[in-house]
Amino acid sequence: MSFANDRPSTFPSASVEVHGGFDRDDWASGYFNVEQELNDVALRPLRGKLPAELCGSLYRNGPARFERGGQSLHHPFDGDGMITALHFSKGEVLLSNRFVRTEGWLEEEEAGRYLYRGVFGTQKPGGVFANIFDVRFKNIANTHVVRLGDQLLALWEAAGPHALDPVSLETHGLSSLNGVLKPGEAFSAHPRFDPGHHGEPCMVTFGVKTGPTSKIRLMEFATQGPDAGRLISDRSDSFSGFAFLHDFAITPNWAVFLQNAIDFKPLPFLLGQKGAAQCLTSKPGARAKFWLIPRNSGAFAGQSPRILDAPDGFVFHHLNAWEEGDEVVVESIYYRDYPSIEPDQDFLSMDFDLIPEGQLTRCRINLLGKGIETKRFGDRCCEFAMVNPRRQGLSARYSWMAVAERETGYAPLQGIKKLDLINGDKCLWSAAPRGFVGEPFMVPRPGSDAEDDGWVLVQAWNGASCATELVILNADDLSEQAVLEMPTPIPYGLHASWVAAD
Ligand SMILES: [Fe+2]
Repeated sequence: MSFANDRPSTFPSASVEVHGGFDRDDWASGYFNVEQELNDVALRPLRGKLPAELCGSLYRNGPARFERGGQSLHHPFDGDGMITALHFSKGEVLLSNRFVRTEGWLEEEEAGRYLYRGVFGTQKPGGVFANIFDVRFKNIANTHVVRLGDQLLALWEAAGPHALDPVSLETHGLSSLNGVLKPGEAFSAHPRFDPGHHGEPCMVTFGVKTGPTSKIRLMEFATQGPDAGRLISDRSDSFSGFAFLHDFAITPNWAVFLQNAIDFKPLPFLLGQKGAAQCLTSKPGARAKFWLIPRNSGAFAGQSPRILDAPDGFVFHHLNAWEEGDEVVVESIYYRDYPSIEPDQDFLSMDFDLIPEGQLTRCRINLLGKGIETKRFGDRCCEFAMVNPRRQGLSARYSWMAVAERETGYAPLQGIKKLDLINGDKCLWSAAPRGFVGEPFMVPRPGSDAEDDGWVLVQAWNGASCATELVILNADDLSEQAVLEMPTPIPYGLHASWVAAD
């Protein structure tokens, strides 16, 4: 099932370091500055046939500038966001890509050098004295992109969303979402789309202000009809302790948050020695907590949040959550510790053996205080897992996720796994040894009720040809439906969303 093996290598590495079945140079070659912005340029079909029913737009956000003025980023997450749109219609796919014109991006384009520190450790040029006490940050709009009403929103969790034109990708600017958000208010990069099993479809999201206490604002927005984009629910709750909340999960009645057992010690950040995210450390002896906030549309509306112990470990992303009797069940990708890149390390030469691997874990949280049961789904390192979007907030049988090629330990993501969450059956598609993947996106077949009927859209970096490919897999067995080459190379991206054609 490899796509890279059966074609000539056009980019042989001068020195190949084989590590767990991949070439480090191939992996590193997927991080580069994007110099071209294209409008509606067709992808080149390499193999297979596009499914006629696949009509709509796949939007993906991700860092696309890794060097400026001769200075490389310390961490890829510090890179300025660029949106890639793939429009599927009439048997072809057209690509448009455009950087989000944030205020900081425009200033740095003009200056030709970095003017802001990055949260993940990138410093301004000039050493510690150029960085000390500079606590400004640049909204880099690089994490996710979603459609809300007639706007496309480029998201970055520490500040507000940028509104873009869904067709031209032109940046309209920071959006308050019709006055919902105050200037500078945090707005998560991980909204969840409730398909409306117990009410109207809506987008559920949050903002968090953290410190000795953490305040979560839970917001729900209409997504259908003329009301799309209107705030329909809003509540705020305060919790004791610092919280790093990148993601959450929803059920019909609850918004589920996990407070990782970590601490924030900002002194090295203030002194210009570290990025803010490098000041997060494990908190020995502390317990992680689940914070369950009742949704205003649910059976527990108006009640106080429930706070329950959670297993040890660190979580960026959740897969899904649902309710069963007195239990809320949440599936998450657990790391044994918070993975950070220290100031003296370069992310392109980091020792993969020192990075904890992500492992999908199910937690059954008893709401009556009878404890938590956990179950881990195998050892293989995984990230970016999703269920059929129609099963968001309900129990799901299947999940699709990006996985490492090796079966244990950390390694770059090179394959896609479909996992049966009930019986543990799995199937795999692999881009190894020279291909690398990001988040897979499962698009259900229109009109079909079968949970695994549809396609999995994968953006893959081909280290052999130094090109980015769109791989379309059949969601049921991960067989290759089509592979197309993008008209310009696109670096590894982060999160994507799908907007079906009208
Ligand atoms: Fe994320």
